[in-house]
Amino acid sequence: MTIAFNGRVAVVTGAGNGLGKSYALALAARGARVVVNDLGGAIDGSGVSGTPADAVVEEIRAAGGEAVANYDSVAEPESAANIVQTAIDAFGQVDIVINNAGIVRDKTFHKMSLEDYEFVARVHFLGSVYVTHAAYPHMRDANYGRILMVSSNSGLYGNFGQTNYSAAKMAVIGFMNTLKLEGARSNIVINALAPLAATRIAEPSGIFDTYDPELVTTDAVAAMVTYLVSEDCTDTGNIVAATAGYYSRIQIVESEGVRIDPRTEMTPDKIADLWPQIHEMRNPQPYEDGVSNLTAVMAKE
Ligand SMILES: NC(=O)c1ccc[n+]([C@@H]2O[C@H](COP(=O)([O-])OP(=O)(O)OC[C@H]3O[C@@H](n4cnc5c(N)ncnc54)[C@H](O)[C@@H]3O)[C@@H](O)[C@H]2O)c1
Repeated sequence: MTIAFNGRVAVVTGAGNGLGKSYALALAARGARVVVNDLGGAIDGSGVSGTPADAVVEEIRAAGGEAVANYDSVAEPESAANIVQTAIDAFGQVDIVINNAGIVRDKTFHKMSLEDYEFVARVHFLGSVYVTHAAYPHMRDANYGRILMVSSNSGLYGNFGQTNYSAAKMAVIGFMNTLKLEGARSNIVINALAPLAATRIAEPSGIFDTYDPELVTTDAVAAMVTYLVSEDCTDTGNIVAATAGYYSRIQIVESEGVRIDPRTEMTPDKIADLWPQIHEMRNPQPYEDGVSNLTAVMAKE
């Protein structure tokens, strides 16, 4: 076993069920001390219960691992900070944060209340920010950190009925794109995951009528997550997919583009003529950051 977490402390949010549970179990099995956070609500975020987090802690302890439960919500700054404080109080440090807690409130946009829009964004996006914000100073002090943002192919590519969820799942990518630059100075690695697994949250979408739930396992995703938050993974700022044993890297790329002399008159008619060339994804390029993108764009003939 080369990937090990001895001496490391991990916070896994939403670890009472589904994917988070399997991340917590996998990390603990390899020596991490784990804070199993879970609010214990329904898939729409309603209700609370300590039972799911307690059950996972019990399972970890029964297998000889170390874990403590926390029942706070990621969706408020104070309670999110308390999740990290639980790690500090129990284990004295926090090395790993997996921002996994999530809910869904699916509806087409014209039927979606702004409350459902905001709440989904609050749990997925701001919840991830709140927990990371509380853990980040500890990571900087220790000159070590591993952070995982949980995105989704619904955000990366779109999914009917999920404007709230899709936007929140892309927001975590933007957050990562900048924190990867800031965190690099302190040996803090941050990556993002687009998983798929047969959990209760994915059930309403009906995809498991098409795909065998036995193939779309949480364990196949947990293997990737365990690698991404390990000391062995030093690549930062990646978006990675993990679905039924399929693993890949996803990137935002920009086409070759077209330059016309900006001193000539720019008209929408010219744009219409050039549209096929602008639209075509010729020689697509990724960029490390906004500055390198601008440098490359300004240098184009
Ligand atoms: N299952 C999939 O196919 C899939 C696909 C893409 C992304 N995801 C993402 O993976 C993550 C885990 O989802 P899952 O499929 O395991 O769902 P799940 O419902 O089984 O687990 C999510 C857990 O998060 C907890 N939670 C919800 N709100 C919380 C809050 N405010 N504070 C603390 N805990 C909270 C829930 O109680 C639940 O135990 C989510 O972010 C989800 O959006 C899942």
